[in-house]
Amino acid sequence: MSGNYTIAIAGATGILGGLIARAVLQPPYDQIFRQVRILTRDVSSPKAQALKALGGAVELTEFNPVDELSVNNALGGVDIFISSLGRTTDEVHKIILGGLVKNKVKVYIPSEYGNDHSKNDFEVAVSTSKLGQQDIARKMGNGLLKVVAVYTGLFPETGLINSGIGPLLGFDQENLTYTTVGDPATRVTYTSVDDIAKSVARLSHLAIEPSTADSVPDHVTLSGAAVSYKDIAGFVEKATDERITLKSLDINAWREKMLKEPTLINVIRYLIGSGKMNYEDDNHNELVNPGQSVWKWKTVEEVIIEQHVSGEF
Ligand SMILES: NC(=O)c1ccc[n+]([C@@H]2O[C@H](COP(=O)([O-])OP(=O)(O)OC[C@H]3O[C@@H](n4cnc5c(N)ncnc54)[C@H](OP(=O)(O)O)[C@@H]3O)[C@@H](O)[C@H]2O)c1
Repeated sequence: MSGNYTIAIAGATGILGGLIARAVLQPPYDQIFRQVRILTRDVSSPKAQALKALGGAVELTEFNPVDELSVNNALGGVDIFISSLGRTTDEVHKIILGGLVKNKVKVYIPSEYGNDHSKNDFEVAVSTSKLGQQDIARKMGNGLLKVVAVYTGLFPETGLINSGIGPLLGFDQENLTYTTVGDPATRVTYTSVDDIAKSVARLSHLAIEPSTADSVPDHVTLSGAAVSYKDIAGFVEKATDERITLKSLDINAWREKMLKEPTLINVIRYLIGSGKMNYEDDNHNELVNPGQSVWKWKTVEEVIIEQHVSGEF
């Protein structure tokens, strides 16, 4: 299989998008995606310039997602569009989608990389909006635009202990106390951003090649590792020699609170506690990385050790 495709990435100046850009520039993808177009609001920013320095295949293109003309121009000649934009309102999505259809883009990977909405036993705006955007994309694409949504659970790099939203998810490292919603032994999927990037590169390739396109479903779920807060406390105790206290909150009361105040954090904590973000038994790991022959999925313990060694906790 070989191609000569143009791949465009919006959001590549963010953590995940930057890794996706690096993944598609690696062999074998450097022979398949001959042009890697980095779409950014500011081509002169240090992050955009660092991406440009990655190689000749990289082209920096101005892309302002709230400006129809800018989006249409940026998507000319693109075969695959990957979004890892931090925010996509319905209005922004409408503009992007118009550009995708107008320019006959063939594959679209929207900015999901979180929970598989189909597992929800409730309705909240953040999920209905993202699913609604996907539905519109599939309808407007009219069979010519393949939309592949990728669900990955949490990023261990930004959802554990002291990093990113870790403290908001109940990790209180200062007081050596982790508080779960529901049973501390309930497992949740964490997929490393590096592994997501490699998976997105592989899915892009499979989805664009006519001979493999049908092997890629509309909804792809990944599960790099599934561990519980109890497991995480064990990894931290092993790394630090300190004792972690586990506490738990009533899940039914949390669900009521989450339905009244469906903030992202309230929803995520409910999904973790209810086991609805555990994809270990139902995922597409084998599609992207059969028998771990392409790479070894990063474990949560590996990330915790790295964070401890680098002084994050
Ligand atoms: N599952 C998890 O644990 C988890 C954790 C974090 C993120 N995520 C998901 O991963 C995806 C990427 O997140 P991220 O944190 O990497 O994104 P991010 O850093 O917030 O944003 C990525 C890029 O998007 C562009 N951007 C951001 N806000 C924008 C706005 N209001 N208008 C236009 N462009 C904007 C910026 O690019 P330019 O400045 O170059 O234009 C930015 O560098 C999102 O879908 C997010 O929900 C999941």
